[in-house]
Amino acid sequence: MKLDINTTTELNNGVAIPLLGFGTFAATGSEIYRAVREALDAGYVHIDTAYIYGNEKEVGAAIKDSGLPREALFITTKLWREDQGYDTALKAVHTSLRNLDLDYLDLYLIHWPVEDKMTDTWKAMETIASMGLSRAVGVSNFTIRLIEALAQTSALVPAVNQVEFTPFLFQKELLEFCRLREIQLEAYSPLTRGRKLDDDRLVVIAKKHGKTTAQVLLRWNLQHGVVTIPKSVTPHRIHENADLFSFELDADDMSQLNAMNENTRMIHPEWAPREWRESDL
Ligand SMILES: NC(=O)c1ccc[n+]([C@@H]2O[C@H](COP(=O)([O-])OP(=O)(O)OC[C@H]3O[C@@H](n4cnc5c(N)ncnc54)[C@H](OP(=O)(O)O)[C@@H]3O)[C@@H](O)[C@H]2O)c1
Repeated sequence: MKLDINTTTELNNGVAIPLLGFGTFAATGSEIYRAVREALDAGYVHIDTAYIYGNEKEVGAAIKDSGLPREALFITTKLWREDQGYDTALKAVHTSLRNLDLDYLDLYLIHWPVEDKMTDTWKAMETIASMGLSRAVGVSNFTIRLIEALAQTSALVPAVNQVEFTPFLFQKELLEFCRLREIQLEAYSPLTRGRKLDDDRLVVIAKKHGKTTAQVLLRWNLQHGVVTIPKSVTPHRIHENADLFSFELDADDMSQLNAMNENTRMIHPEWAPREWRESDL
């Protein structure tokens, strides 16, 4: 299928999510305001933020000042760990909506699993969806075990699981599991936070297509049917990361990239699910 910057895929509740989004982690204030304005000007319509990033207000201001109609955009934010539980999650979604100056979100995610509060938190996510405060709800950093645990307590299947997903952390089993359950996988840190962009094997594939290694990594996500949300505050990189639609990785490139898995994570906080320590991906 020919993809372009506006290509969407359908979530399990029928909501369309653009395959390319724009990440906003680790940038605040005027820096993120300018970056989001640049991204929207460059044609991105999908923005990923989180309460804990401390930039929802600036992201919201950039959205408003872009003049783009709300329904043309897809906005995600996330529920932080301390706000999990039923009442606290409902309070938190209102705080995020106020910060963003929006009436509704397109996607609200449980940012990290907090296992002893998971059932109540997910009940709150159901309420948030049924009240129309978010068009879709989902999870992030959930393993197969945790998704299965959630399914024991609720018939509402998360629309999305946002996880780290690169050739260096090719979570094939999780990808296949999510596909079977109709949970859309979304790739964070798709550029390895810039750390592996000089990898020789990536350089060879990038040269072959006259593209950059960043573009190869993002295209690999898209060709796996995975939504991808690269972050940059640098204008030329914002444009570069959106220029993914004039080339295609061939079967040989894909199998070489798939074979690069090292099970290495860029993100591994102390509160990560226990499987990550056991390398049971
Ligand atoms: N759910 C979660 O727990 C979770 C965790 C991590 C991230 N996320 C989300 O996923 C988004 C993306 O992940 P990320 O920010 O961790 O990392 P990333 O997108 O993999 O990498 C961002 C880094 O790469 C640099 N970069 C961007 N484009 C580049 C290019 N074309 N060439 C060279 N360097 C480039 C950026 O620098 P400059 O900005 O200086 O250009 C920045 O330092 C986040 O922003 C956030 O929205 C979610």
